Amino acid sequence: MAVLRTLSIIKPDAVNKNVIGKILDRFESSGLKIVAAKMKKLSQGEAQAFYAVHKARPFYNELVEFMISGRVFISVLEGEDAIALNREIMGATNPVEAKPGTIRAEFADSIQNNAVHGSDSVETAQQEMTFFFSPDEL
Ligand code: CMP
Repeated sequence: MAVLRTLSIIKPDAVNKNVIGKILDRFESSGLKIVAAKMKKLSQGEAQAFYAVHKARPFYNELVEFMISGRVFISVLEGEDAIALNREIMGATNPVEAKPGTIRAEFADSIQNNAVHGSDSVETAQQEMTFFFSPDEL
């Protein structure tokens, strides 16, 4: 295992529920370090570009609308095997399939409004971190 970095987004549904601190505690309690962070309201262009890989999917437009519906908390998490560990802590994309105790099982409302995003590979983590953070912030 290696020390890796991954991008995390706490989505508008979780920000609205006032659970940013509870979610960050899950990361920190699991051994992940928050090494960069910012809170912002995404523009439509940013949300479209960030989720461009899903452009052809039927849920794309609604996903973009959801992601720009409120502020998001974006962070970079660092730790041993951080990408897989974060995905384990988040739970399955669809909260009804997420294991009890995971972030999505506890805080997500639906497959779309699913509380958090986490990078799914070393390559996408690199792309996603540089999408939101400049080199001097990382
Ligand atoms: P995320 O991990 O951010 O990656 C892509 C997002 O698309 C996903 O979380 C959900 O918010 C959303 N998503 C994935 N599948 C569906 C679906 N079947 N219907 C609606 N939204 C989805």
